[in-house]
Amino acid sequence: MLEKYDYLGIINDRLNNILRLENGNAGLIEPIRYSVLGGGKRIRPLLSIASGRINAADFDAVLDIGCALELIHCYSLVHDDLPAMDNDDLRRGLATCHKKYDEATAILVGDALQSLAFEVLSAPTLNLPQESKLKIINLVSKASGISGMVGGQLIDLYSTGQELTLTILQNMHAQKTGALIRAAILSGYLCGSAFSLDKYNTLSQIADSLGLLFQIMDDILDVTQSSHTLGKTANKDIINDKATYVSLLGLEEARGIADELYREIITDLSRLKNSAMLQEIATIVYKRNH
Ligand code: IPE
Ligand code: IPE
Ligand code: MG
Ligand code: MG
Ligand code: MG
Repeated sequence: MLEKYDYLGIINDRLNNILRLENGNAGLIEPIRYSVLGGGKRIRPLLSIASGRINAADFDAVLDIGCALELIHCYSLVHDDLPAMDNDDLRRGLATCHKKYDEATAILVGDALQSLAFEVLSAPTLNLPQESKLKIINLVSKASGISGMVGGQLIDLYSTGQELTLTILQNMHAQKTGALIRAAILSGYLCGSAFSLDKYNTLSQIADSLGLLFQIMDDILDVTQSSHTLGKTANKDIINDKATYVSLLGLEEARGIADELYREIITDLSRLKNSAMLQEIATIVYKRNH
């Protein structure tokens, strides 16, 4: 198996290629490249690749699907940082897109990244049967939209300053962050030729837990790490009076839930053949410091 760092290089090279965009407007290409290529853990493409391994998927196909999800993720970050949303100056250790350029540019960067992602997913060169492509496009569009990432971001904005119930908070996290993570895992699986509804449902359940774990860890890191380590502004959730696992339950309880989820994910994954890489990424999600 390739090492994680080899995969990171391959993912970054592929993103760089996708973003050559020779026919586009240079005024937009530069900020797009700045917003995507300037860092990031690339967890979503890594998840697609890892999940593809469970189903012997074509590597180039899962790579492209993972990169498409990364483009949607980067768009969500550029918009999340805008003054009308979280109003952040720092992202991946660099000035946020709207700070480096301007707000209008950041809005357009997000818009362009979203349609570019669907261009990649629907490309004739993507080596997948049409039926699988269509299933994946449907999955990713649902995960990105009103019942997924965008819907979750709306709940996040309107719950500022409010004490949510745990159920609503969990639902917000599942939508704003979990949906794209679930799409990364399930679309990786769908790239393989075999299909077992049982396995798909098991993966879907694990993906839900991993998405929730991902955002709980993000909530915890916000209050436990420095801006330097995070590459984004520390304590931003407190500054913005956000509803998070830490604000609702306190650090200890939030950590307890994360520990429990992680154990559950590893136990469930260990029952699936060829899931070693997926387990490794789950561990990164749980143990990361940024
Ligand atoms: C940050 O995502 C935003 C959330 C959904 C919590 P990541 O922690 O994956 O950010 P990058 O891509 O590594 O910068
Ligand atoms: C962001 O959640 C989720 C997205 C859909 C981008 P956060 O607002 O907590 O993400 P960070 O902490 O700014 O990366
Ligand atoms: Mg936010
Ligand atoms: Mg934010
Ligand atoms: Mg956060």
